[in-house]
Amino acid sequence: MQFKNTLDFAQQLDSDDVLRKYRDEFYFPKVKGKEVIYFTGNSLGLQPKRSQKFVDDIMTDWKELAVEGHFHSEKPWWDYHERLTRPLAKVVGAKPEEVSVMNTLSVNLHLLMVSFYRPTEKRFKILCEEKAFPSDQYMLQSQVRFHGFNSEDAIIEVKKREGEHFWRTEDVVAKIKEVGEELALILIGGVNYYNGQVFDMETITEAGKSVGAVVGWDLAHAVGNIDLELHDWKVDFAAWCSYKYMNSGPGNASGIFVNEKYLDRNDIPRFEGWWGTKKETRFKMKPEFEPIETADAWQISNPPVLSLAPYLASLEMFEEVGMEALIAKRDKIVAYLEFILHEIDKEVDSSFEIITPVERGCQLSVFLHGQGRTLFDYLMKNGVITDWREPNVIRLAPAPFYCSYDDMYRFGQILKAGITSQ
Ligand SMILES: Cc1ncc(COP(=O)(O)O)c(C=O)c1O
Repeated sequence: MQFKNTLDFAQQLDSDDVLRKYRDEFYFPKVKGKEVIYFTGNSLGLQPKRSQKFVDDIMTDWKELAVEGHFHSEKPWWDYHERLTRPLAKVVGAKPEEVSVMNTLSVNLHLLMVSFYRPTEKRFKILCEEKAFPSDQYMLQSQVRFHGFNSEDAIIEVKKREGEHFWRTEDVVAKIKEVGEELALILIGGVNYYNGQVFDMETITEAGKSVGAVVGWDLAHAVGNIDLELHDWKVDFAAWCSYKYMNSGPGNASGIFVNEKYLDRNDIPRFEGWWGTKKETRFKMKPEFEPIETADAWQISNPPVLSLAPYLASLEMFEEVGMEALIAKRDKIVAYLEFILHEIDKEVDSSFEIITPVERGCQLSVFLHGQGRTLFDYLMKNGVITDWREPNVIRLAPAPFYCSYDDMYRFGQILKAGITSQ
């Protein structure tokens, strides 16, 4: 399709957009009395209007039923988390029994590493991408230290090539082969938070397995954004947060994936709690732990129902729309944003560089050569909510659920005004 940088053209794309009505399902903050252009769905998704009712229902049940709400509310609390499993499994390409919701992301990755990072004297190394998200770096460093190794020996980072802004799959695979029998675990962000690159998870997972390593993925920036086929790719484990593209609210609960081959096994080391033991016998309060046959065996505490309520509301919307439609719009709106950036770049003779490779989801990361913080501040003051990453990058993620083509056009005009006013 031949794009045009005009308001009419953008509005035509909006009227052809099958997801258009979902924009009204979200609350937009306002700047100078006008709804913002929201590019930070990769950081915190907007609030779906329907999530309030899901939370209010819990508050009402708590008010009216108190402890009886565990078993006698309309959506009983004791197995409330199970309502999320089925829709979430569709989003990540898993069997429902391979998915569970609990805790928060970094906590879950630690818990999963308790099970899946089992280093020996010979096989103890962890492979990750260079400059992984800081929490992942701290997790990996503390895990190897916990097992008596040091980071310099045990953590292998795959680097980008000199002068390039992205990782090459062949370099990741070559590094996996090089580390070979010393490799215990691969843990990479499936979509990189900084440059928006989508890793070839299938190829990397296969390469990891061919040398006998366990392969896990941090899917914080992937879930609800890209097509995931965790089961078919034979991923061992994965975890994600729900507050970015999943729109479940700040700091909200995390999902986990555990490959079915690890389910219903008593020999897997795990940190255990009463919500991971079989439901049928849980309240017999026996000393023996009998793992639930699903990923729920990794549950430790009873479910944080007030957090899960907005997550369930959001999943209801994912059920209605489906990942296929979201991805179709994502590709079109990101392509339109890219076009607008190039057009403005030409018009003002600036020099942006889009550092996101073609393997991308919703995010374009733009290196602002010659422009910088002042341009970012201008955008924010004028209702464009984006974010700044050192040294000189803004990240733009037009989430397909609620961003419009008209937003992209207006963004271009504000960007142009920002550059020419400097
Ligand atoms: C890639 C990645 N990993 C881990 C985290 C940490 O998430 P949490 O604070 O929910 O543990 C984030 C948070 O944004 C992230 O983007």
